[in-house]
Amino acid sequence: MERLILPLPGNEAFATRLAALCRAELGGLETRRFPDGESYVRLHGDPRGRVVDVVCTLAHPDPGFLSLIFAADAARDLGAVEVNLVAPYLAYMRQDKRFQPGESVSSLSFARLISSTFDRLTTVDPHLHRHPALSALYTIPTSTLHAAPYLADWIAANVPSPLVIGPDEESEQWAGSIAARIGAPHAVLRKVRHGDRQVDVEAPDLSRWLDRTPVVVDDIASSGRTLVAAAAKLAGMKPAQCVVVHALFAEDAWAQVSRCFERVVSTDSVRHPSNRIEIGPLLADALLRNLRD
Ligand code: R5P
Repeated sequence: MERLILPLPGNEAFATRLAALCRAELGGLETRRFPDGESYVRLHGDPRGRVVDVVCTLAHPDPGFLSLIFAADAARDLGAVEVNLVAPYLAYMRQDKRFQPGESVSSLSFARLISSTFDRLTTVDPHLHRHPALSALYTIPTSTLHAAPYLADWIAANVPSPLVIGPDEESEQWAGSIAARIGAPHAVLRKVRHGDRQVDVEAPDLSRWLDRTPVVVDDIASSGRTLVAAAAKLAGMKPAQCVVVHALFAEDAWAQVSRCFERVVSTDSVRHPSNRIEIGPLLADALLRNLRD
């Protein structure tokens, strides 16, 4: 039976593309607030006997979280055989341990809430830092997809003679695999984070790459300070470009980052003016092939 795709508000365009790629029916979710601020959700489409994919990127998860849970519960109540969360960007991956006494470990709490509501989670490049896989947090089956080949193909098609640059040691995984796919060299900088918005970066000697276009690649642009600090280390090279997976660009990040690079592009995992790389096909393929970690 044809699957039913339900977008939370703000996810309609992505879900429309996904439904077309999956040859699925695109349903709808009507949401509003009661006068006292409580959330109202009404589902349009018939989930009976069907797999339902609720599409919600989680870049700003808090305001719409109850609507997400209510939508999933409604789909199940109305007869869905499986209710999946398709979250191109997955939130709450950073606070994965108690750094200070008394702190909540929000990664675990969030994972428990999602795991108790959905049958399966499909996401792209979650910020796995101290945990090796989503299974360390989530108790439901997960599909962890990687956008690096899409970034690589965009760079190959749009940047002549690139030098792929990871802004910190963690980004070696992206920079290395992107560079290998397109036959370009890569370099990795070293980052020391002093606070949410205080970042220092050290660069190796890049003088042998002066004839190449530096392309900084990263999984997330959040405060943007990592990218700004990386760009500062590329003075003297050709004008730098920047490609990220998740364009969060919180607060003034877009203004700060966009003036440091000749061009900044991102995937459409989070809706943003920098979106140039469509990752719908990555998610559609995983849903249709029922991929699991
Ligand atoms: C680092 O751990 C990540 O790969 C990103 O570099 C980081 O999350 C970016 O954060 P911000 O934009 O706040 O510097």
